[in-house]
Amino acid sequence: MAATLHFAFVLALFTGQAIGVNNGLARTPQMGWNNWNALGCDVSESLLLDTSKKLVDSGLRDVGYNYVVLDDCWSDGRDENGFLKDDLKKFPSGMSAVADEIHKEGLLFGMYSSAGEMTCARYAGSLDWEANDAKSFANWGVDYLKYDNCYHMGRFGTPKLSFDRYKVMWDAINGTGRPMLYSLCNWGEDYSHTWGMSIANSWRMSGDIYDSFTRPDDLCSCTDASSPFCVAPGSHCSVLNIINKVAPYVDRGQPGGWNDLDMLEVGNGGMTDEEYKAHFSFWAALKSPLLMGNDLRTLSASSLTILNNPAVIAISQDPDGRSVARIRREMNAAKDKYGVGEIQVWSGSLYGGDQVVILLNAAGEDARISASLEEIFLHDGPEGSAPQNNEEWEVYDLWANRMEESLAQKILDAKAEDLPKLFKDANWYNSTELSYKEGLKKKDARLMGKKVGTIKPGGSLTAKVKRHSMEMYRLKSVGLGGKRKVHAKEEL
Ligand code: GLA
Repeated sequence: MAATLHFAFVLALFTGQAIGVNNGLARTPQMGWNNWNALGCDVSESLLLDTSKKLVDSGLRDVGYNYVVLDDCWSDGRDENGFLKDDLKKFPSGMSAVADEIHKEGLLFGMYSSAGEMTCARYAGSLDWEANDAKSFANWGVDYLKYDNCYHMGRFGTPKLSFDRYKVMWDAINGTGRPMLYSLCNWGEDYSHTWGMSIANSWRMSGDIYDSFTRPDDLCSCTDASSPFCVAPGSHCSVLNIINKVAPYVDRGQPGGWNDLDMLEVGNGGMTDEEYKAHFSFWAALKSPLLMGNDLRTLSASSLTILNNPAVIAISQDPDGRSVARIRREMNAAKDKYGVGEIQVWSGSLYGGDQVVILLNAAGEDARISASLEEIFLHDGPEGSAPQNNEEWEVYDLWANRMEESLAQKILDAKAEDLPKLFKDANWYNSTELSYKEGLKKKDARLMGKKVGTIKPGGSLTAKVKRHSMEMYRLKSVGLGGKRKVHAKEEL
């Protein structure tokens, strides 16, 4: 173990690449599905098995969503030896059998508990039972633990208190010898973005998301997670609220450990198609885990064509693992019905020297949004000093090749035996055969989007962006042909 650690450390120094925890998991943000947003406590064995089957038949497993995560409400107290009992009414075959079935589909199994005396829905929690519970999870064949924060018995209030409480479970999991992705759900409390990466693969940075793009809500009154006055992270946080909260510390995500912006709401019905596209694009570009939060048993064609866009998923799974950063925020654009009128420009570097840019219109009217190369490459040198400012760039629209809804509907309606041909005809991106890293290396056209223009040296990117919408682009340097030295890492 010491030798491995030492090697990882030397490699990190050599490549200049940050490393997170050393369990080898989540080198890119984890992808999968979690029941909570759509179904809450309505969990069962059949839900998990039907969902697993749907993940395979819809092609979503192959595009990258490989964790099936069961949230709260699955247990039935503890037995006389202090081990959690699974609720056999909900899971008649028992958790171990459920895990086996999920594994047979080529998927991984995630479960949930809380670092408190109870879970948030008031089932038995794992605080002071960590060793027992980690053993149960390992015995059942669990691959992922989402670990919540309710009923912590006052053991919070300083980073050290929260860190120590969460570290007990991290140590217990490691003690089992079974690799489990460890996903903290402490809503950004006690500055988890400053210590999460030492003991976990991801850490929530906000109270719970809800299915709204901009609507402010008293239950999510905290708009700045790093403020000491943020006493209640809350539970009705809009997409915009979460984006604005993570902006000051996007750089804390790194291969092995990620800012978790919460599960996706795509497909749950509260947002427009454009809003869902924007929500999904930001979660990908901010390197949040991508856990679908809709009921896949009733997956619609329009949701499928958002969730399966390989050009956007390639931003999430980019091997460099760098989040976009906000370079401009204007707050005085035309107000929407909630009084929100924000325009934002985000930019970030990608594998091979490409750049991703998002122009966000979270205002009440359509707008023309412009960003100069000087702004886009601000992080490579301010005031136009970045060398990229003097290059010509090709602009690729990452949503222009979105799958036709009619084709997605055919896939959803197809019999199992017809699926292979349909996926072939659809030129489906199968990441189990060609990883995103390999696909990017080969410049696979499905990951690049559609070329829509160029930017001359010193020029600007301009687009008309509909209200409550965004445009998302990959920029490729013409001269350098994607071979910029600074990003060409040996290990890629
Ligand atoms: C908390 C978490 C949610 C969900 C519920 C379950 O609110 O933040 O993601 O797990 O608990 O009760």
